[in-house]
Amino acid sequence: MRILLFTGKGGVGKTTLAAATAARSAERGEKVLAVSTDPAHSLGDAFGAALTGEPREVELRDDAAAGPGRRARLHAAEVQTRGLLDEAWAELREHLRTMLLGAGISELDAEELTVLPGVEDLLALAEVHRLAESGLWDTVIVDCGPTAETLRLLALPESLAGYLERLFPTHRRMVRGLLAGVAGSENVDRWDSVADALGRLADRLQALRDMLLSADTGVRLVLTPEAVVAAETRRTLTALALQQIRVDGLVVNRLVPHPGSARGEAASWLRTRRKEQDDVLAGVRAATELPLRTVLHRAAEPVGAAALLELGDELHAAGDPLREAASAPAMELGGGGRALDSEYTLRLALPLHDDADVDLARIGDELAITVDGRRRLIALPAVLRRCTVVGAVAGDDGLVVSFRPDPEQWMR
Ligand SMILES: Nc1ncnc2c1ncn2[C@@H]1O[C@H](COP(=O)(O)OP(=O)(O)O)[C@@H](O)[C@H]1O
Ligand SMILES: [Mg+2]
Repeated sequence: MRILLFTGKGGVGKTTLAAATAARSAERGEKVLAVSTDPAHSLGDAFGAALTGEPREVELRDDAAAGPGRRARLHAAEVQTRGLLDEAWAELREHLRTMLLGAGISELDAEELTVLPGVEDLLALAEVHRLAESGLWDTVIVDCGPTAETLRLLALPESLAGYLERLFPTHRRMVRGLLAGVAGSENVDRWDSVADALGRLADRLQALRDMLLSADTGVRLVLTPEAVVAAETRRTLTALALQQIRVDGLVVNRLVPHPGSARGEAASWLRTRRKEQDDVLAGVRAATELPLRTVLHRAAEPVGAAALLELGDELHAAGDPLREAASAPAMELGGGGRALDSEYTLRLALPLHDDADVDLARIGDELAITVDGRRRLIALPAVLRRCTVVGAVAGDDGLVVSFRPDPEQWMR
């Protein structure tokens, strides 16, 4: 089963291309689910069908096509997170609140701590996971909404898991003992049920993380051939690489048709516009080795069966839209040597743009890498935990961090 996530800047054509890709795969005979997690859903509009939170069958027919006509059957849904703020979640929050109050944390702080950030986003992702795990579909295509939201969504399972771990470390017994001292024994029983609920939450977060990092999950970035959008796309590539999420391709939408040798004002406008777009496209091609597809700007809005099937042709001709192998997120350990003379390198394949702002810090056994304000913690391989960072070089192929053994780290 493959999961393909479509994202990109607002309005570039994510929904349209997700729908066309889904139509194309379904026409080839795959069992396809197209699902929108964008709170401002428009997947139903693209298909010309009313959608709800539960997948329903959508039949796309183009009887006007040559020959016997074209037909694609698939399922589609628009996730309704409001309805998903389920009892389980409310119960966990209540448990937590009681706990924190019991442990002497004031009412206000307890409220703040239990309003977990991004709960709705997380539920949307959990819903995709639930649908994907049902085993009913070969391919799940997700219309994710704008990049900023999507990056937050994709980072959530990990950041929440970290948050959870910091608040309530896995060593539950220790916390239990600690609590008996602070909160009195009647609260310890309550702690056990909270600990169970937290354990289940941690398991669910891990399952979501596994889904996102799976080799069968990939992001397809949609952009338009404009300098501003291309620049944002490069930052998004870095941010996704930081999270070790695979990107399996780029789609450049709304390329204006080339006027050929036509004359006149309109042709001249198109020629100028296309020249600019081609320049931006060349820049994007030079910056990445990812497969890149282009789609022409249509005169008419591409909605409904015929338009989507035809768009699917332009995108994937006779090929399989899912053939592209998602590129592996790379983290390579190199170097070596003897005892104190050894030097190691950790190469992180981050596509850094020229003026990327990179910051490194060692936090315990983790390396905190911040690029343009986005931070990620990378658990260091065992051999590097006894070393200190002695340098870092940012280049075209990413970031190379060098380490040297440090006896002081061994003593810790
Ligand atoms: N290649 C195209 N040619 C013409 N119109 C397009 C094309 N791609 C998308 N559109 C139209 O542009 C608008 C925005 O597209 P949409 O797919 O909803 O973008 P997003 O999901 O990124 O916000 C829609 O009205 C859509 O029909
Ligand atoms: Mg959309």
